[in-house]
Amino acid sequence: MAVIRNFRYDDLDRIAEIVSSSLGEYYPKSLYLEKSHDWEEGFLVGVEGGRVVAMLLGIVQGRFETRILMFAVERSYRKRGIGRELMERFIDLSVMKRVKRISLEVRRSNLEAIRFYEKFGFKNTGVLFMYYSDMEDGLKMAKQL
Ligand SMILES: CC(C)(COP(=O)(O)OP(=O)(O)OC[C@H]1O[C@@H](n2cnc3c(N)ncnc32)[C@H](O)[C@@H]1OP(=O)(O)O)[C@@H](O)C(=O)NCCC(=O)NCCS
Repeated sequence: MAVIRNFRYDDLDRIAEIVSSSLGEYYPKSLYLEKSHDWEEGFLVGVEGGRVVAMLLGIVQGRFETRILMFAVERSYRKRGIGRELMERFIDLSVMKRVKRISLEVRRSNLEAIRFYEKFGFKNTGVLFMYYSDMEDGLKMAKQL
């Protein structure tokens, strides 16, 4: 069973590793810190055996929306329910924040993640043409609360 808790400063190295290996993105550590200051509760990690193995970084966007900016479970820990635990916690937090919807973007080819999001009630709300740095399209998805 994974423990879900808030991000802490000493998680930074593991977060950067998970984001690079699972999402192929390399962000400066200052970006994670900046986002964590904006909305501390919205930055979640999944810990198993004392090791951070998953992360979900969400932000508040305007008065009515939260947005998932990054979400990844380390490959060898997938399909064990850790993603579900993180998503359920994030939905609860968003409900408590009294926002009306949760939004996110996902690569059009990432069918596994799209299926995962659909299971939680996210629906396709548009296409972002050539959204990613390699020119792949993004799908916009949102869940009404
Ligand atoms: C999308 C992602 C976060 C989901 O995380 P996850 O921990 O694998 O998700 P879960 O384990 O909660 O659920 C995924 C699947 O495992 C299944 N599962 C959950 N617990 C299980 C268990 N104990 N045994 C077997 N399968 C299980 C779920 O039913 C689901 O299966 P399905 O999609 O075939 O119906 C993960 O695949 C990931 O990190 N992908 C790469 C990064 C990525 O694409 N992020 C999203 C970018 S927008």
